[in-house]
Amino acid sequence: MTGLADDHAVVQRILDHIDHHTTDLGEGTWREPLEHYVSEGRFAAELDMVLRRYPTPFCPSAALPTAGSYVARDAARTPILAVRGGDGRVRAFRNACRHRGTMLADGAGCEKAFVCRYHGWTYGLDGALRHVPDEYGFPGLDKSARGLVPVDTVEVNGIVFVTQMPSAISDARLEAIPELFTARHRFLGCDEAEVVTNWKIVVEGFLEGYHIRSTHRETFYPIQFDNLNVIETFGRNSRIAFPYQRINKLRALPPEQRSADGMLTYVYHLFPNVMIATFPYSILMVVLEPLAIDRTRIITYALTDRADHEGDGQEPMKRSQDFLLAGTREDRDVGCAVQRGLASGANEFLEFGRFEMLIGHFHRSLHALIDGAAAVGSRRDGTPQE
Ligand code: FES
Ligand SMILES: [Fe+2]
Repeated sequence: MTGLADDHAVVQRILDHIDHHTTDLGEGTWREPLEHYVSEGRFAAELDMVLRRYPTPFCPSAALPTAGSYVARDAARTPILAVRGGDGRVRAFRNACRHRGTMLADGAGCEKAFVCRYHGWTYGLDGALRHVPDEYGFPGLDKSARGLVPVDTVEVNGIVFVTQMPSAISDARLEAIPELFTARHRFLGCDEAEVVTNWKIVVEGFLEGYHIRSTHRETFYPIQFDNLNVIETFGRNSRIAFPYQRINKLRALPPEQRSADGMLTYVYHLFPNVMIATFPYSILMVVLEPLAIDRTRIITYALTDRADHEGDGQEPMKRSQDFLLAGTREDRDVGCAVQRGLASGANEFLEFGRFEMLIGHFHRSLHALIDGAAAVGSRRDGTPQE
């Protein structure tokens, strides 16, 4: 149970905000110390204590459609290989050969087995070491003990979660993950981009609608609203609704017939570093992978559940993608500008207002995991507790 409001309630809250020129507000503002964006020690703690210990979305299940389908990429600066086995189960492994450590796969594809390109050690889809060329050179080698090193992997509601280092926090509430991907969702493709920005700054850019008019003046603003959102938290995760102006058409319908489809974008933040954003033609799973304290890889998996995405459906879908890309570029540019501004010496903290409260929620969760639940963080007053 996520406890998230249903679409009818969200639509009603949005229509009320339009009528009253209001938006959802948290109870308090949040100040995040600048130090937390520039300290290498803090960055290492985020990787060690959160990103590697938390069940973290790795890819959509739909990116691994058949036995042998794999996705290999770094997660929390650790090469990970996720693959669907012959038994239909997804397993993830540390992506390194057990001979001399060569990375086994990169990117995505489909294999019957993983053959190391260096000397040909061969692993099954279940990670077992199946074949060692000229095995007589390794007297006493116990092949059964030299399979790929597994990491905890679980599929929940169409998302593959990976926990690299199980710990007390890895019991994170996966049952609270909403059903965003159904069996009807097909994988369209994956795109990667690198930005010169701390990963938390990229997260922050998704979690408020206060920047729509200023940052997206000619892209999102003409069809959306500035600073008009419905915001909710569930556990350490959150959801923000960005309505489109055409949502006003729903006023003509009785409340129980008002569908949110095509009327708003939901952005779900799956703590710590994954966003899932819904659009009329697609749903995107966006993974924000820290590469360095000031560098982030943005990996975007695109899916659709629309039957018409081929043929006639391609044109509106393409237009929608181009449009999205333009807005995304604006977000990336402004994120890089925040990163550069960090070095100015102007600020001791970054301040987040009441309508930016999901960002405070994100930082509070990070503080609790890194500094301990007793840490007060920098809450200015009573933002709602988890
Ligand atoms: S490093 Fe993989 S077979 Fe030698
Ligand atoms: Fe934006």
